Amino acid sequence: MAKLFVRKPLSVLLSEADNSEKGLKRTLSAASLVALGIGAIIGAGLFVRTASAAGGHAGSGVTISFIIAAIGCAFAGLCYAEFASMIPIAGSAYTYSYATLGEFVAWIIGWDLVLEYALGAATVAISWSEYLNKLCEALFHFRIPYEWSHSPLQVSDLGERGIMNLPAVFILLLLTFLLIRGVQQSATVNAVIVIVKVSIVILFIALGWQFINPANHTPYLIPADAAPVTLNDGRIIDFSQFTNHGWGGVLAGAGIVFFAFIGFDAVSTAAQETKNPKTAMPIGILVSLLVCTVLYILFSHVLTGVAPYQDFLKSGSEASVAYAIDHYMPHYEWLSLFVTIAILAGFSSVILVMLLGQTRVFYSMANDGLVPPVFAKLHPKYRTPYKSQWLFFAFVSLFAAFLPESIVGDMTSIGTLFAFILVCIGIIVMRKTNPDLPRSFRTPLVPVVPILGVLVCAAMIYGLNWENWTRLAVWLVLGLFIYFGYGIRNSRVRKMQ
Ligand code: ALA
Repeated sequence: MAKLFVRKPLSVLLSEADNSEKGLKRTLSAASLVALGIGAIIGAGLFVRTASAAGGHAGSGVTISFIIAAIGCAFAGLCYAEFASMIPIAGSAYTYSYATLGEFVAWIIGWDLVLEYALGAATVAISWSEYLNKLCEALFHFRIPYEWSHSPLQVSDLGERGIMNLPAVFILLLLTFLLIRGVQQSATVNAVIVIVKVSIVILFIALGWQFINPANHTPYLIPADAAPVTLNDGRIIDFSQFTNHGWGGVLAGAGIVFFAFIGFDAVSTAAQETKNPKTAMPIGILVSLLVCTVLYILFSHVLTGVAPYQDFLKSGSEASVAYAIDHYMPHYEWLSLFVTIAILAGFSSVILVMLLGQTRVFYSMANDGLVPPVFAKLHPKYRTPYKSQWLFFAFVSLFAAFLPESIVGDMTSIGTLFAFILVCIGIIVMRKTNPDLPRSFRTPLVPVVPILGVLVCAAMIYGLNWENWTRLAVWLVLGLFIYFGYGIRNSRVRKMQ
């Protein structure tokens, strides 16, 4: 039994990190990490999920949902920062847990991170497709046929059913090419996009403020007796359910918009490609988190003030920001167009970081022998894990092509929340097992902060319904089969013992 919890010695981890000659190139600075963080953070969570959380659950109270999600992320972020400053090596939560909680838990986390990164990329690719349609409509008065830009589980206002989401696959393909060319180029493209993305959020807040209709903010939370709404696919949203109104709705909304914060931890996956990671990492993680939180609260306040929440269940459910501008902000067509273009660019940078994070986690896992060596194979010229990049392109495309945003997005949220909980527990364990190891950043008030992190993240998991709990359980069980069938037999650390 104890063997299941074999730990990777920290000395081995750190010497692997130093041995960068053989591995990935160190090119990123603290500033590029903040850019990488914001690049990963602001995306579909804000521009798509704010509306779905407001529509079906929280109403204007989605601002409070953002605050709850931010609190959970801040606690977990502080734990991430301590780990990242102590173990500056690629792999994120996976690597940290290998050194602290042992191989079995590390495997669970590494496997679980696929939900965060790979499915996160799929979710944003699906949202990208929504806004691409909006752009085609605005510029060329043309829509990509509904069948070819939606999943088979989606039905339009006119009763058309989706077949597969081709634009989502297209953007994944394009970014896979870019990533194979190398991180430095990708980070430069990313920095430009980040500036555009932040400008658009600020512009929407500033210009939208005057169009806030106080009636849309009253009552602030959805009342239990709000009239039920029938969706295009025939489902009825009944607001009397605990998670569809009032504070229960705000909690469910937090689980949904939590997605909007995912990504600041992706910064830690680039540790092996960072110059001076011990100080750059905590700055990268915490600064990007703080900037985004302020922007989100203001943005969601304006969005739910401009359009009534019921709209976001019907025609306003797709490309919701452009919808709100087109319908409630007369004479701002230019803003809608600008927002749409910026969002398309912004989503691309999110997908980029997600795909990057995913292949880097599997790079570490392959080096440890827990997944096949193909995931660690570097391109002879670009030094990027190109085979892994292609394999994940195929995997992510399946989800992006055939499932709706709501399902893939909720799976991403629940998977990430679960990983955060394990990271918070990891900090408490690490303080006991390696109290004297140098850390350039220490999580304050241990064990209070990690325990609060666990509680807030668990509350958000509770807010996501039983279907999502089941999906998480199925994914983890599948992972167990792979671990006992492959990982446990090929583990390098186990062979060193
Ligand atoms: N936080 C990222 C987004 O909102 C994943 O798209």
